[in-house]
Amino acid sequence: MTVPILEMKDIGKSFPGVVALDHANLDVRPGEVHLLLGENGAGKSTLIKILSGAYTRDSGSILLEGREADLSTPQAAQEQGIAVIYQEFNLVPWLSAAENIFLGREFSTSWFKPHVNRRKAEMEAWKILKRLSADINPRAAIADLGVAQQQMVEVAKALSMNARIIVMDEPTAALTGKECDTLFSTILDLKSRGVAIIYISHRLEEFHRVGDRATVMRDGKTIKTLDLADVDVEELVRLMVGRSLKDKFPKVPATLGDEALRVENLSRGNKVKNASFSIREGEVAGLYGLVGAGRTELARALFRADAPDSGKVYLSGKEATLNRPRDSIRAGLGFLTEDRKGQGLVMPLGVDENVTLASLDQFSRPGFLSRAKQARSARQFVGRMRIKTPSLSQEVKNLSGGNQQKVVLAKWLSSDAKVFLFDEPTRGIDVGAKIEVYQLMNELTRQGKGILLISSELPEILGMSDRILVMCRGELVADLPASEADQETLLLLAAGGGKTIVQ
Ligand SMILES: Nc1ncnc2c1ncn2[C@@H]1O[C@H](COP(=O)(O)OP(=O)(O)OP(=O)(O)O)[C@@H](O)[C@H]1O
Ligand SMILES: [Mg+2]
Repeated sequence: MTVPILEMKDIGKSFPGVVALDHANLDVRPGEVHLLLGENGAGKSTLIKILSGAYTRDSGSILLEGREADLSTPQAAQEQGIAVIYQEFNLVPWLSAAENIFLGREFSTSWFKPHVNRRKAEMEAWKILKRLSADINPRAAIADLGVAQQQMVEVAKALSMNARIIVMDEPTAALTGKECDTLFSTILDLKSRGVAIIYISHRLEEFHRVGDRATVMRDGKTIKTLDLADVDVEELVRLMVGRSLKDKFPKVPATLGDEALRVENLSRGNKVKNASFSIREGEVAGLYGLVGAGRTELARALFRADAPDSGKVYLSGKEATLNRPRDSIRAGLGFLTEDRKGQGLVMPLGVDENVTLASLDQFSRPGFLSRAKQARSARQFVGRMRIKTPSLSQEVKNLSGGNQQKVVLAKWLSSDAKVFLFDEPTRGIDVGAKIEVYQLMNELTRQGKGILLISSELPEILGMSDRILVMCRGELVADLPASEADQETLLLLAAGGGKTIVQ
């Protein structure tokens, strides 16, 4: 028997109104990938924050290689060789990739000259990024990088610390295809050097691909630790949610109405090139593409979160004059952004206030915001989407990642938009809640709303769309009925293997 590299025993942690961890146990062996699984709010991130010294535990003990360890501060944990890549990145937007990787540990030119040796940092950063096959300029400012690239910088940062335990909290949530492959081969490489990896993910298809063992959490408790060789995905899901889930994509066949949205020749720089498409009432148009293909840019230009160079937008057949997001909301567009921290939520406000943010017009008489109405609407969504929160006024920054995402969704669903642009709506959402999101989408289409579903998950695109659009390098390269699409075709189209426009 190898001595576990890490043992967390009987860990307890409470926040006002919430028992986040209740006698949680975790043991991790050197050189293994240990999955930490559970529904949104189960306590995964909290357990990790205790390991990393970000939170102090109320009770329990932590052993590293059999010895009691002091992990009371982030610094202490770092010194013990624990590195964490958080769900919400911890990068400083205005600093460069290299500066972020070596933040707080800048190379000094010599001991009596404690300046940052920028060139050395950039050189080292370049080496690590190259090892990750990440095409990122170490000098590029974080703010100018996409979500996937920022993720890579986080991975590089952990690697640069020579950590012996690396925690990855939903590392692939923002990555697609090739980048995931790269990450997985990096993980294999780390394993072979005896590094232990604690891996948190909601993506079922990854479990057996990367994991050796799994610990399942529910309501702050660790339910079970299993060898992945002995258990299938269905069983893991059952352990996580406490029941079996049958239909993962409960799509109801669309009843199509008139044209809800038409976009003509939308362009923005070289990110979006002359995109034209339309969505009918009651229709879900899936927009697939690789990271960097321009899907988010298209949605942002359409919504006027960024100004397009050209392009007309028609809602219900009438051309809409859109100059800024507020015009778009008025005209009947709803936009659920991929970056919930940056664009979707106001962190210091309560759940109720966030949910009703997009639809203030509905709730306010001139100069007066009806708290009662706001609360009623918020309560309804919290119940339906099973948003785990001790109260409606809880600040959203205290919710678990997946529950924050649910609040973003609720916020747009409670608005009365006619067409919704959903950018990765189920990212970071657990299996059970995903199905609820799909059911809400069904309800929206039943009401005659149109949906543009941007997703990097092919099963989701195939399972929930009526029509599928594919983007490649800023161009719309496919527009076809979902019934004519399959996994291989879409992958090929997304990679630049031709064009398919079916009218
Ligand atoms: N700082 C905090 N203040 C108050 N409550 C908190 C805080 N951090 C976490 N919680 C609560 O503790 C519980 C566990 O949250 P945690 O973030 O650990 O969940 P999780 O398993 O990581 O979920 P997800 O899959 O959504 O990321 C949740 O109910 C959450 O709202
Ligand atoms: Mg979490």
